[in-house]
Amino acid sequence: MINTIVKGIGMYLPEKILTNDDISEFVNTSHEWIYERTGIRQRHIASEDQMTSDLAHMAALDAIQDANINAADIDLIILATSTPDQVFPSTAVKLQDILNIKRGAAFDIHAVCSGFIYALSTADNFIKSGKYKRILVVGSEVYSRILDWKDRSTCVLFGDASGAFILEGQNKNSITSGIIDSVIRSDGQYRGKLYCDGGPSMKSSTDNFINMDGKEVYKHAVEKQTAIVEELLDSAGVDIDAIDWFVPHQANLRILQTTAKKLKLKEEKIIVTVDKHANTSSASIPVAMATAVKDGKIKRGDMLLLEAFGAGFTWGAVLLRY
Ligand code: ACO
Repeated sequence: MINTIVKGIGMYLPEKILTNDDISEFVNTSHEWIYERTGIRQRHIASEDQMTSDLAHMAALDAIQDANINAADIDLIILATSTPDQVFPSTAVKLQDILNIKRGAAFDIHAVCSGFIYALSTADNFIKSGKYKRILVVGSEVYSRILDWKDRSTCVLFGDASGAFILEGQNKNSITSGIIDSVIRSDGQYRGKLYCDGGPSMKSSTDNFINMDGKEVYKHAVEKQTAIVEELLDSAGVDIDAIDWFVPHQANLRILQTTAKKLKLKEEKIIVTVDKHANTSSASIPVAMATAVKDGKIKRGDMLLLEAFGAGFTWGAVLLRY
């Protein structure tokens, strides 16, 4: 039997920090409004010459160092992003080249804020099938480039970041550590609730920024994340009390707290980084994980529940022993 172990975790946050007060200087908003409704205090913003692949490179190097391996040991790169450098080729192959990896394969996954969960689930299946031994999974985003900085209802919510895991297949008699189970879902009928136009096949579009029905996103995020976690725990035969840390997609503090409450999960078990990083889409879960590991909160052997919800709608969850 092959277990998928999380061998290393890394992250990168661009240097520039934009506070709520900074934003209130160019749109009609306030720190109080943003903080009360979202829990966000600040976000990191990529410099003009930094692309998604640059952030991914830094996070990947951090994870490679943490895993104590060489880049050449990586067999496959799966990069989750909704802000790729180019329409094609994928940002994953660019990262492969930057890391000077000459073998294996690399591809992008596009599931917006659920991208990292989709990528982890895909990587886990590749490892458990025996196809690949060592996989670099990255979530990397530069949302500052797809925000309308004149639209106060969306520009206050997002930030730029990248996070990465090194996963490794290890032969074991039972799952003593690593990914226990994962589940991913989507329902495309809701794709108009949260979207960003500008794809090359949509020639008529001039609005290439994020559009969102905030209230609908909020409602579905809580409902669908709660249901998928219950489904996952049920199928894995794990009680909610066995979870040491809940590492949710960091969209909004109220969504995290309401979901945790519905799951009867103690609030002190939630990893919260949305206050410092805002919503970094596919990067938010690995960045939250890396932050919590570096802070000494999450330790080896802890049982973790990762979950996300995003545009599409897409959603999913991963249960793992770190
Ligand atoms: N500052 C001040 N006022 C604002 C701002 C702002 N930044 N944004 C909106 N407002 C105003 C609106 O114009 C509106 O004014 P009006 O009543 O005069 O028309 C008023 O505040 C209320 O607006 P609502 O949109 O109804 O505010 P709501 O209480 O729903 O909060 C929010 C908005 C925070 C976006 C909320 O709906 C939410 O959290 N939704 C979840 C969306 C989310 O997290 N998306 C992230 C991406 S998806 C994902 O990652 C899961």
